[in-house]
Amino acid sequence: MTMAEQNEVVMKDVVRDYKMGEVTVHALRGISLEIKRGEFVAILGQSGSGKTTLLNMIAGLDVPSNGTVEVSGEMLSELTRNQRTRFRRKSVGIVFQSFNLFSTLTALENVEIGISFALDKNELQERALRYLDLVGIADKAASFPSQLSGGEQQRVALARGLAKEPPLLVLDEPTGNLDAETSEEIWDLILRMNKETGATVVAVTHQTSVSKIAHKAVFLRSGQIWGVTEDFVEG
Ligand SMILES: Nc1ncnc2c1ncn2[C@@H]1O[C@H](COP(=O)(O)OP(=O)(O)OP(=O)(O)O)[C@@H](O)[C@H]1O
Ligand SMILES: [Mg+2]
Repeated sequence: MTMAEQNEVVMKDVVRDYKMGEVTVHALRGISLEIKRGEFVAILGQSGSGKTTLLNMIAGLDVPSNGTVEVSGEMLSELTRNQRTRFRRKSVGIVFQSFNLFSTLTALENVEIGISFALDKNELQERALRYLDLVGIADKAASFPSQLSGGEQQRVALARGLAKEPPLLVLDEPTGNLDAETSEEIWDLILRMNKETGATVVAVTHQTSVSKIAHKAVFLRSGQIWGVTEDFVEG
């Protein structure tokens, strides 16, 4: 088996229940999914269908109530919380639906914090600035999140996820707050990272246009895979 054919993500019969007192919410109801290394996968589905819950599993932020999740050869569903945190820091670039920026840090510092600490201060800053520039907000490097618009905060969050240059990028509606034109530029950037660095990309989006640039689109419905469309892209 060549590297390109290896699976980055293997989910088997994944169930995630949330117990809320008397009520149990079945967020995922038996998901089995394989994502190859270097693949660009779009996750689509209505609000509440389980998209974020699924991403959280792949990013190692959450574990299944039942079933297994293997990512980059690590059986995440069997790791301790600390082991998963270490895995995440090393291997996953995450862009949250809710940005999760640190309010006391500037845009630049928010991006720096996502990058490996193996770099020295200058390299760190150079790389963080480069990614802020790529998402079009280098001029806001010194601003705090409270001084930024929703779309600008989203781009800082995106720069943080990308600047890590991780083998796996997990994105939850990364352009949800952006206008059509900026959104298209951002998807182009994500696609370029996928092609140039070989990063595996798993991205939740409401934009069906994105499923056209992805290798594969997974449609969720009520916590189940309703359909998978492969090979939109030739070659
Ligand atoms: N922490 C939680 N506690 C209880 N229920 C939850 C929790 N997180 C998610 N859920 C429920 O699980 C289901 C799936 O939620 P999820 O956030 O994965 O949906 P989604 O597809 O990402 O929706 P959206 O497009 O609105 O972001 C929903 O019914 C939601 O209410
Ligand atoms: Mg969500």
